[in-house]
Amino acid sequence: AMSVFVTRRIPAEGLRLLSQASGCRVPLWDSEEPLLAGVAGKRGLLCLLTDRIDREVLDAAGPSLKVISTMSVGFDHLALDEIKKRGIRVGYTPDVLTDATAELSVALLLAASRRLPEAVEQVKNGGWTTWKPLWMCGYGLSESTVGIVGLGRIGQAVARRLKPFGVRRFLYSGSRPRPESATEFGAEYVPLTRLAEESDFVVVTCSLTPATQGVCNKDFFSRMKKTSVFVNTSRGAVVNQEDLYDALAHGQIAAAGLDVTTPEPLPTDHPLLSLKNCVILPHVGSATYATRSTMAVLAANNLLAGLRGEPMPHELVL
Ligand code: NDP
Ligand code: DGY
Repeated sequence: AMSVFVTRRIPAEGLRLLSQASGCRVPLWDSEEPLLAGVAGKRGLLCLLTDRIDREVLDAAGPSLKVISTMSVGFDHLALDEIKKRGIRVGYTPDVLTDATAELSVALLLAASRRLPEAVEQVKNGGWTTWKPLWMCGYGLSESTVGIVGLGRIGQAVARRLKPFGVRRFLYSGSRPRPESATEFGAEYVPLTRLAEESDFVVVTCSLTPATQGVCNKDFFSRMKKTSVFVNTSRGAVVNQEDLYDALAHGQIAAAGLDVTTPEPLPTDHPLLSLKNCVILPHVGSATYATRSTMAVLAANNLLAGLRGEPMPHELVL
């Protein structure tokens, strides 16, 4: 029997695939307890981005573990060095969540730049007295410069959606120029410092790596314009949150929209939550019913293919 371990309840379509696969036993760990306890002796592990798969978990699993399938495109929660050393294969879920995450990034950008949560609040609390020429004004995309930090699958999908809003110019940064991705938008490859200085909207869609950890810091925000809006839908750790707080509180930048934070969940008394010009969402980039279902099916198929020694639909080559 192929014994697999699923760390949390996932959409039914994915679970069904696993339980229908011949010889697959699927205990589901639907609990708040650490993952460690259930993973021992399993051949396959289906995990989420909230499960840190480090040496401790791998030791707890033991040598039987052959395949890890994460129901996410991000893989910064996996200790890839340790995983590789043990000859474990890894599956992940690129592409299928690109549209949903790009759509949410645009929604968050508009919510932050046009101050939607603040405006909704004004309607509820009586702050809406009359139509006032200078009340609740924000910034629009028309004729703007948009800087994309990490022009990957999601970054390109964001640019594709923003272009029809009348964006004048796209900039992007990354480890190297990507002309094949940039031509569609006429996007210009620039150093991160120049991207900060020239963008009216900064959208962060890079992966979290040692090179991107904390890159949106004091220096970065101090280069941004007072009228610019910062959006992050990648990983919280790309941003230095103290520096972002200072920039927002002192009007160094106009507003921010964050779908990801450090930690997650963000404590309800966190200083960022006291700011009117900071819109924070609970990591819902890929949260459409259809996308989550497709992610679960892909994660299940990756796991099954790995266990059968076949090519995975989406394997992370280590
Ligand atoms: P891709 O691998 O297609 O894109 C990642 C991008 O990051 C690449 O363009 C890469 O560019 C860039 N990057 C890597 N290093 C750097 C660097 N030093 N500076 C700037 N950019 C860099 O992944 P996806 O677009 O599919 O996903 C991106 C990330 O979004 C995921 O890793 C995940 O963390 C996050 N995500 C968040 C979601 C949410 O719910 N909020 C949903 C889905 C994903 P290059 O190689 O040229 O350096
Ligand atoms: C991912 O897949 O990495 C996202 O953060 C959640 O969909």
